[in-house]
Amino acid sequence: MIIAIDGPAASGKGTLGKRIAGHLGLAHLDTGLLYRAVAAQCLARGVLDDVAASAEAARSLDVGTLDPAHLRTGALGEAASVVAARREVRAALVDLQRRFAARPGGAVLDGRDIGTVICPDATVKLFVTASPEVRAERRFKELAARDPLASYEAVLADIHKRDARDSGRATAPLARADDAILLDTSGLGIEEAFQAALDIIEAARTRRG
Ligand code: C5P
Repeated sequence: MIIAIDGPAASGKGTLGKRIAGHLGLAHLDTGLLYRAVAAQCLARGVLDDVAASAEAARSLDVGTLDPAHLRTGALGEAASVVAARREVRAALVDLQRRFAARPGGAVLDGRDIGTVICPDATVKLFVTASPEVRAERRFKELAARDPLASYEAVLADIHKRDARDSGRATAPLARADDAILLDTSGLGIEEAFQAALDIIEAARTRRG
């Protein structure tokens, strides 16, 4: 069983992906971490603008070394969306993601192009979204707990910018696959969103037999 979860930044897809995987006993890959790790390497070497260097960083990426605590920063999210717009970088990460998805026992992958490009034959496809304001509010609350100078307006502006870049790029843009089920979490808490996702997965599995 392969569960593909796509959606924009701060939609809650990562949290949902992790919980669904835990609940169903499946492996989970947050594919945003791959692009974040490529961006982190490029920034450290001062080569973020270099397409060939970023593609090389993607080709030599070791999934075993991904460190979510260091990679999940606002600055790396922004830099990740820059490298993720490059065809060469995306191409270098396709096989790795497909191998992960094909592991015996099944997997949950979350990202932007899982249902459209990486796993077009996934058992279940979810497109998780929420309004930009709700997503900014959630992200702002996380940030404000650590940084008293965090600003809601700055977070909202960042979300709009990242949405535009991720949806507007030529290669594998953020998009809902035709057969993905939409889950709008704007009015839902995490428990409700989790339940709604499980209901969708159960219904889709029953339909497929
Ligand atoms: O999901 P997350 O915010 O960690 O992703 C960071 C960036 O990586 C996204 O804004 C997007 O540009 C890119 N990404 C992507 N395709 C994926 C996952 C992430 O382009 N499958």
